[in-house]
Amino acid sequence: MDHAIIDQAADRQLNVEPYWMPFTPNRHVKADPTPRIVTSAKGAYYRTADGRELFDSLSGLWCCPLGHAQPRIVEALRRQAETLDYCPAFQMTNPVTLRLAERIADMAPDGLDRVFFTNSGSEAVDTALKIALGYHRLRGEAGRFRMIGREKGYHGVGFGGMSVGGMVANRKMFATAMIQGVDHLRHTHDYAEMAFSKGQPAWGAHLADDLERMVALHDAGTIACVIVEPLQGSAGVIVPPLGYLQRLREICTRHGILLIFDEVITGFGRLGAPFGADRLGVIPDMITFAKGITNGIVPMGGVIVRKEIYDTFMTGPAAAVELFHGYTYSGHPLAAAVAHASLDLMEEGDLFARVRELEPILEGAVHTLRDEPGIKDIRNFGLTAAVDLEPTPGQPGARALRVFERGLREGILLRFTGDTIAMGPPFISTPAEITGMIEMLRGLIRTEA
Ligand SMILES: Cc1ncc(COP(=O)(O)O)c(C=O)c1O
Repeated sequence: MDHAIIDQAADRQLNVEPYWMPFTPNRHVKADPTPRIVTSAKGAYYRTADGRELFDSLSGLWCCPLGHAQPRIVEALRRQAETLDYCPAFQMTNPVTLRLAERIADMAPDGLDRVFFTNSGSEAVDTALKIALGYHRLRGEAGRFRMIGREKGYHGVGFGGMSVGGMVANRKMFATAMIQGVDHLRHTHDYAEMAFSKGQPAWGAHLADDLERMVALHDAGTIACVIVEPLQGSAGVIVPPLGYLQRLREICTRHGILLIFDEVITGFGRLGAPFGADRLGVIPDMITFAKGITNGIVPMGGVIVRKEIYDTFMTGPAAAVELFHGYTYSGHPLAAAVAHASLDLMEEGDLFARVRELEPILEGAVHTLRDEPGIKDIRNFGLTAAVDLEPTPGQPGARALRVFERGLREGILLRFTGDTIAMGPPFISTPAEITGMIEMLRGLIRTEA
């Protein structure tokens, strides 16, 4: 039997017990797993074991903007596997990875032109934090050890990303293991000031001054970096107020603090430009990326850094390793080949422009939900949107779970966190699919009021 090919028609019951599912209520799901088992995917749709078709409203987990089973990607993967399926990442390299670093550097904002590869967003974040610490140390400022994140931030699940992250559920079990000297800016979501904003809220630039408060408290000479998502994705699409990121940039520059944009979600087109930095007009010192670079087909992440940061490491004997950090699979050739195919498809399809065309369609449609029962807030920017549902009294998260589960029965895979439904449809979606997605959600919200 070839275990690599699952017989989709197999009538034997799959055993769900050995698999510990990540970020999942295992007992709840395993009590009735069938609706959750996906057996194939094509374009913007999944097909489940029991034959339902589901619209992919979050492009996987924000990672499949080009849709599934793209023939060009499948072919690139096959060809690369036949040509060079692995190459050691340390001391050795290969053409496809070299060309990808060059290509990403060319796409990145001015001045960011050195690329370090990882396999995930979490690893990209931990790498960027280490680079920030090393950079200051090499410049004789080892006292800059503090790392500043933001409330509601999500930077993955490594010890670094967890510590600078700002989601209490991800932190409380591991509170004793948090990295020392981490602090958090306040988040920018304020219902009273910005509910139902379309695009960037007008209120809130001054919230960046929180960083000045931290400088006053800790002294700038102890702060290495600030890390923020330009748009907070996992917390449920929290859009940066107009002028907020500009102000954060000014304060970082004034105090010699490195600014890291975690663009694991916003990188490679989600906001209608190569990076969120481009769309929002603010250039950080480092960008972390993952997800969309390979259309989610083979894991890959990375950090793009300013040349001055890279050059700071290029000291000491030329034959000595400059950064004692890296992963067995850094710049994996299969991931690199798939990344090239994904970038080709984005370029040839002019998909960043397409995102900008779809943005007003999504905005117009999602805000029509405002008058449905129990809607607390609606937000959107780029090809992202979120709807906050009024929770069922005394049962936080229960309403969104009901909406999600009914959605599975009715043909849509939604993403929820707490009572927020977040959407980030594939760039290849048609206008009718975008409005259809919102109409499906409307039906679910009404039924699960
Ligand atoms: C902004 C951001 N950073 C980091 C991560 C972690 O990425 P991964 O799950 O690939 O480790 C995510 C994942 O959603 C993310 O959204």
